Amino acid sequence: MRKPVIAIDGYSSTGKSSISKIIAQKLGLVHMDTGALYRGVTYFANTCCQNEDGKINIQGLFENLDKIKLEFRNINDELILFLNGKDISREIRTNEVSSNVSLIASQKEVRDFLMETQRSIAEKGGVILDGRDIGTVVLPNADYKFFLTASVDERTRRRFQELTILGIKTDEKSVKENLIYRDKTDSEREVAPLKKADDAILIDNTNLDKRQTIDLILSHIHDI
Ligand code: DC
Repeated sequence: MRKPVIAIDGYSSTGKSSISKIIAQKLGLVHMDTGALYRGVTYFANTCCQNEDGKINIQGLFENLDKIKLEFRNINDELILFLNGKDISREIRTNEVSSNVSLIASQKEVRDFLMETQRSIAEKGGVILDGRDIGTVVLPNADYKFFLTASVDERTRRRFQELTILGIKTDEKSVKENLIYRDKTDSEREVAPLKKADDAILIDNTNLDKRQTIDLILSHIHDI
């Protein structure tokens, strides 16, 4: 039997990626964290294409998109993102990348550039992709679609904890500001904005822990 294609979209720090990873392990699916791809392009832009004022030169990035080779490699059962052969899994979580990623993700050229990588992995089924536009744009025919949300304060708490564990220095105020800014930019952009697909199941996990969110999602998945 063909394994399902599952789309998990939603706001930043609702646990999409870590939840998708565990569901993938449980159901024997391949997981792709599509946010990491946008972060990878942003990391590349930060290193290749900055103006003198330190801002990203978007046109310069477009001209250099063909120099980007992003791939996930399976290392000890973890999908690690490599950019042109270099492990960038830590670099893509820094504040520098987080503060520019929404701008980069709002560019049509960048979204088109990453489309094929996302769609090709889903062709044979047996995948779970998490992101912002998976159920609406990338995989509109996915077998299951979920949309995760949670309060801003709870998401700030989770993000702060995650960054602290990664050893990235920050404070709760800037984490919250970045989340609010990204929610707004991601939802209001013209191309593939963050929004719930009409046929997606809405899950508010403000008061649910990871385990409970996973169980709730699994309770909707049948025939596997
Ligand atoms: O999930 P994340 O926080 O790592 O995502 C980083 C950014 O990438 C986020 O601000 C929105 C963007 N993104 C997107 O536009 N489309 C996706 N499918 C995934 C992420």
